[in-house]
Amino acid sequence: MDRPLPEFYTGSPVEDADLRFREAFIEEVRESLLSRHVLLTAPRRTGKTSVMNYICSNPGSGTLAIAVNVQDLEHPADFFQSLFDALHDAYPDFVRDTLAKGWDLLKKPLAHVKDFGIGEFKLSLRDSDPNWEKNWRQHGSRFLQQVREVDVSILLVIDELPDMCINIQRKDEELLRTFLAWWRSQRQSPTPSKDNIRWLVGGSVNLKGTLDRMGFVDLINDFEDMTLPILTRDEVMQFVHDMLAGREVVFEAEVPARLAEQLGRPIPLFMQMATQSLYRRWKRRIAQKTEVDPLGTDDVDEVIHELVRESGARDKFQHFYTRIRNYYPEPQRSAAYALLSMISRRSGPAGRAALYSEFVRVTEQQQSNEKEYELKRVFNELLLHLENDFYVVEIDEGGYDFSSGILKAWWAKFYAN
Ligand SMILES: Nc1ncnc2c1ncn2[C@@H]1O[C@H](COP(=O)(O)OP(=O)(O)OP(=O)(O)O)[C@@H](O)[C@H]1O
Ligand SMILES: [Mg+2]
Repeated sequence: MDRPLPEFYTGSPVEDADLRFREAFIEEVRESLLSRHVLLTAPRRTGKTSVMNYICSNPGSGTLAIAVNVQDLEHPADFFQSLFDALHDAYPDFVRDTLAKGWDLLKKPLAHVKDFGIGEFKLSLRDSDPNWEKNWRQHGSRFLQQVREVDVSILLVIDELPDMCINIQRKDEELLRTFLAWWRSQRQSPTPSKDNIRWLVGGSVNLKGTLDRMGFVDLINDFEDMTLPILTRDEVMQFVHDMLAGREVVFEAEVPARLAEQLGRPIPLFMQMATQSLYRRWKRRIAQKTEVDPLGTDDVDEVIHELVRESGARDKFQHFYTRIRNYYPEPQRSAAYALLSMISRRSGPAGRAALYSEFVRVTEQQQSNEKEYELKRVFNELLLHLENDFYVVEIDEGGYDFSSGILKAWWAKFYAN
């Protein structure tokens, strides 16, 4: 490799210089952004934020770009305040000399910054209109209008949008509808190809599925939907090879393939964790002896086995369990747990018919008189969610298995009964 060896990343987004395997996809996103707004979808822990951060910090000349994580925001007013704050953080001169021109809302915060420092901007922005929550639409429209009058392109990268939608909806469903409808109309006129504003939106929860359940999916159907590709087996093997060989680990030729096989459909985070564990195993070994055997396939198997049991790794897996509780409504929540437990107990895949019986058993406990066609609809939707969210994959005709072998083993250990 012609660059320094990347660190192991076990949770945080991968930094630009270390990001691999995404060049072609990043180019595709950039190309789409020339004429469309883009919605980036992919399951958890697969590298969305890393890709969005990369695009944000390399937006092309003449483009200002900011990225905002909106996971904890609960109101459109928070959304705009965060956007303005991020813009001010990254481009204070642009905000002061251009964006704020003739716009009173930003005057006071900017004066405050002059007196008390940059950290004061957001706080003071919040106070600059006592009715922010009522006036969010006016401020949002004014913002876009101000930007459209200047001769720069702006890329607004919004991470974890589905979470914000869910937060808003929990408090006020009508507000969510109003916000999405307002935003959509802003994305439509002018048409993106004539606009100097672009939105790149992503999130770990299935946004379409989430909004579909609320009946709002047509409010985001103008985005170009782009799916982050799954790492190929060759890429996984390349990764394992380079990360180990670059650290002077000696290993048998079958090691990368064995790890790829053990990971199943790879979740990049697990790939990183397992490779790091292999490296640590090697280091421990050479610390103890001067002559050591190369790492072999049984080391791979043991590392996977340990990862499932290790307490540090547990939080990372736990999250896959918890998010079902947070995002799947009943009766699908209980049924999701029951089905995943059932699959995890099997050595191979579970048949659709067996899954359906289990589903009926669980949901009948809760809703004994639901009509069968309704149950089937909910059942199909649930399998689709579990597939979209990467938990399971359909193997051949009608059989389902965990998509990640390592997650399956973990599930079996802690949640199978
Ligand atoms: N290109 C890559 N190569 C190797 N590992 C990667 C790559 N992209 C992501 N990862 C792994 O995935 C982890 C999560 O990355 P990132 O935060 O970008 O994903 P995400 O999809 O945004 O996650 P979340 O669903 O939590 O928001 C990283 O810590 C790293 O272990
Ligand atoms: Mg992310």
